[in-house]
Amino acid sequence: MGANSMSERVDHPPLTEPTAWRGVELVVNGRPLTAQVESRLLLSDFLRGRLRLTGTHVGCEHGVCGACTVLVDDVPVRSCLTLTVQCAGTHIRTIEGLTTAGKPLGAVQRAFHDNHGMQCGFCTPGFVMTCTALSEAAERPDEDHIADELSGHLCRCTGYRNIRAAVRQALDETHGKGQTE
Ligand code: FES
Ligand code: FES
Repeated sequence: MGANSMSERVDHPPLTEPTAWRGVELVVNGRPLTAQVESRLLLSDFLRGRLRLTGTHVGCEHGVCGACTVLVDDVPVRSCLTLTVQCAGTHIRTIEGLTTAGKPLGAVQRAFHDNHGMQCGFCTPGFVMTCTALSEAAERPDEDHIADELSGHLCRCTGYRNIRAAVRQALDETHGKGQTE
């Protein structure tokens, strides 16, 4: 519908959004950092845009796919739903922090490699970070716990069979043989 003489003219200036900048100190992949960030800056954007850690993938951007999962103080967290300022004082690990260049792969990455637990690889960093948390748990997680954790990750390629095999291998290596199938 086109404008006509009855149209109300709307030319107020936009409301200004209060955008506070905050200083945060945090450790990323063992590297202590200090940064000034907008209070609304998402952790995923901080990692990818400011630190160039693009191994953390962003898919759905609303907490459904799990691709953006990183570890915050060893807990898997969706970085697309987390503000950077919430992570002040924490230790964050991303996929880049799991292996040093030139060094052998760790148990989880090797398990995904050995079992072809990926195709396009888009979902893989998220799965690997969650599997890393499972492999570092004090005790081998039970089947329900593993299923729960993996249910928070979507893969459009693999059908999950090889991913499950990779998780089983990683947990066998870190916790000894279990009943994960
Ligand atoms: S991009 Fe964060 S859950 Fe999908
Ligand atoms: S390997 Fe392609 S989305 Fe999972």
